[in-house]
Amino acid sequence: MKIGVFDSGIGGLSVLEYALKALPNEQFIFYADQKHVPYGEKTKEQIMGYVDEIVSFMIKQDVKAIVVACNTATSVAINEIRKKYSIPIIGMEPAVKKAIDLYGDKRVFVTATPVTVKGDKMKYLIEKVDKQHLVDLIPLPKLVRFAEQGIFDSEEVTEYLKEVFQDFNAEEYSSLVLGCTHFNYFKNSFRKVLPETVHFVDGNEGTIHQLIRKLEENDALEMQEPMVTFYSSGEEIVEPEKLAKVNELLSRLERMRQIQ
Ligand code: DGL
Repeated sequence: MKIGVFDSGIGGLSVLEYALKALPNEQFIFYADQKHVPYGEKTKEQIMGYVDEIVSFMIKQDVKAIVVACNTATSVAINEIRKKYSIPIIGMEPAVKKAIDLYGDKRVFVTATPVTVKGDKMKYLIEKVDKQHLVDLIPLPKLVRFAEQGIFDSEEVTEYLKEVFQDFNAEEYSSLVLGCTHFNYFKNSFRKVLPETVHFVDGNEGTIHQLIRKLEENDALEMQEPMVTFYSSGEEIVEPEKLAKVNELLSRLERMRQIQ
């Protein structure tokens, strides 16, 4: 059986990239909801509707687990979908606890989409783990749009980040949480505007470890010929040029993963 991984767009490939390394003998379905991206600027009701559609699509394909490779969708919809289905559904939340545990001696930037930043889940998370009020929350909606347009190493991106961070004294910060999977594409640009002393923290490792634990619990780990089937909003991606683009994105993410 396959493992379903989905996001509003190409951000979730950063989770898939990690999963392919950690689970080299599994088969995956990757679903990018590019008709509806960006989720981070939509209403809760809209996001619930999109997520519901994707999850039923995956359940029809008989997946053994689903990874919501999207912090925004998790923040809005994870409780509802868990109530509806009995297979493991693994969500993602900004790795604030990890950043504070590892680097809580200084302040922490937490970046995410506007919906995630404003959501109740973020409020509870901060209340629980940020006892010393070290966190600054920063919504970065434009990065999602840049990523979906294939704009990565451009002056526009650096200028945007410079503008966002100009009001902060970065020397006071130990780390930056990438609380949206799309942000992984931009670690080199973040590095241009933030000093080496600011470490990047994402939730990919924690999410995939949780997936592995759940599969182990259900005795559902398999040894299969590795394979990924890619979908863009319900349409299978079969064109060689489009698949080559996906592979280019995966290679970029592999390079970005080395930037700590
Ligand atoms: N990649 C998604 C996340 O992790 C959301 C991006 C968007 O669609 O706004 O939050």
